[in-house]
Amino acid sequence: LARGVTEPDLRGRHVVVSAGGTREPLDPVRFLGNRSSGKQGYALARTAAARGARVTLVAANTGLPDPAGVDVVHVGTAVQLREAVLKSAADADAVVMAAAVADFRPSAYAAGKIKKKDDRDPDPIVLVRNPDILAEISADRARPGQVVVGFAAETDDVLANGRAKLTRKGCDLLVVNEVGERKTFGSEENEAVVLGADGSETPVPHGPKEALADTVWDLVAARLG
Ligand code: CTP
Ligand code: CA
Repeated sequence: LARGVTEPDLRGRHVVVSAGGTREPLDPVRFLGNRSSGKQGYALARTAAARGARVTLVAANTGLPDPAGVDVVHVGTAVQLREAVLKSAADADAVVMAAAVADFRPSAYAAGKIKKKDDRDPDPIVLVRNPDILAEISADRARPGQVVVGFAAETDDVLANGRAKLTRKGCDLLVVNEVGERKTFGSEENEAVVLGADGSETPVPHGPKEALADTVWDLVAARLG
């Protein structure tokens, strides 16, 4: 259990966590992807289970072993992640979108491997928008009082961008971390500020991803009442 938590304060709750990074296929052997490791989402799933919650983890391409005592749904693309999250969110008390969801996907999928064609330049890759899962869940809560949490990695104007993003998405909490070449992606540690729709700001000092996860669940539990 978390420091200071003496009882499983999420017992009887169902929480949904998405983790990892979506991959958007171009052909059977190639995809557009991102550098999300999934470690923060897995830490959220483990800590929620330790605090007594029933946990559904929607995992996109993490390669990490399934955490014990957690229901894991494996997905590949943003469209698949949306379907899995919406389905499990139907009876969830909280949804935490820690996954890095591709904003765009290739407009076409080639059923056969794309070949080089002699001396011709390659065709450009045309992209279309993916659905915004966090905005959709926030706007259309499956249950009254459901708590919705987003994550944002920002490189510049971290707090201002985070505040604007929280408003745009309509979620209750947004965990904002600063990323750069050597920060956050794949690392065991994290440093963040959790912004609340109520105007609150909770700084989380540099530390293990479990500590950030516990702070997120503290804030979620307070909103669940
Ligand atoms: N997210 C989502 N669906 C998408 C894109 C993002 O649910 N299609 C979620 C992520 O899981 C994350 C949050 O939205 O919790 C913020 O993601 P981010 O990429 O920072 O937000 P965007 O609105 O895509 O803004 P940006 O232009 O900065 O990428
Ligand atoms: Ca994005």
